[in-house]
Amino acid sequence: MLKYVRQKDDIIIVGCGNSTVGMNLYDANYRSIVSIDISPVAIKQMKELNKVKRPDLVFQQMDATKLEYNNEKFSVVIDKGTFDEFMTDSKEETVALVTKYIEEIKSVLKSNGRYICISLLQEHILKTVITNLSQSCAIRIIRCHDVESKALDQNESSIPVFMVVATKFSKLHAPVNLLTVEIDKAILDVAKSYFDFIEDDKSKVRIADGIDYITQAS
Ligand SMILES: C[S@@+](CC[C@H](N)C(=O)[O-])C[C@H]1O[C@@H](n2cnc3c(N)ncnc32)[C@H](O)[C@@H]1O
Repeated sequence: MLKYVRQKDDIIIVGCGNSTVGMNLYDANYRSIVSIDISPVAIKQMKELNKVKRPDLVFQQMDATKLEYNNEKFSVVIDKGTFDEFMTDSKEETVALVTKYIEEIKSVLKSNGRYICISLLQEHILKTVITNLSQSCAIRIIRCHDVESKALDQNESSIPVFMVVATKFSKLHAPVNLLTVEIDKAILDVAKSYFDFIEDDKSKVRIADGIDYITQAS
């Protein structure tokens, strides 16, 4: 994760619980870190645990779907397991809550800032991430092999864990007109049926051989 977070970043950890992520960053000389959680118990414990050794760590009890921060305050939002906890099913009210959560994240995030989400990324979560973030962010998904091997080393069962890094487009870059050339129509069908991809004036797809297409276009 450190590859995507710099020491000068203004970081918020949403749904921190009792996790050591903020403490580990602090010990690696990151200083601007705010951690929030809806649980007053977790926040009280974290304040108590860190008040002497890590006095600059800030913990606040707050609802992540109603963040009380200014727009574009943070350059990094870290979410470890919180999205997964929100999105236990695909019911209408759950999707509405998660959509509100993502809107809050996008508004507190600066342009070019990163939303880093550690998740088990089941299909309904992946779909929601893509649907809600792909218009305003560049999305990269990385499988966390080190987390999985650590669990195996400790004789624990290991399930795939992923890190989604969504980088918010700067105002200069969004939105663009996009032409995609794809050789296999089946890929387009998957994008439409599984990821709600819609062809429109801004996003068009040609089914063709990419090299032929570029040769003819040049
Ligand atoms: C699965 S736990 C993950 C905790 C921690 N990030 C970790 O990695 O151990 C999800 C956390 O999200 C918090 N949470 C749930 N709903 C929340 C909300 N609306 N706003 C803020 N935090 C919330 C829970 O209290 C819990 O601490």
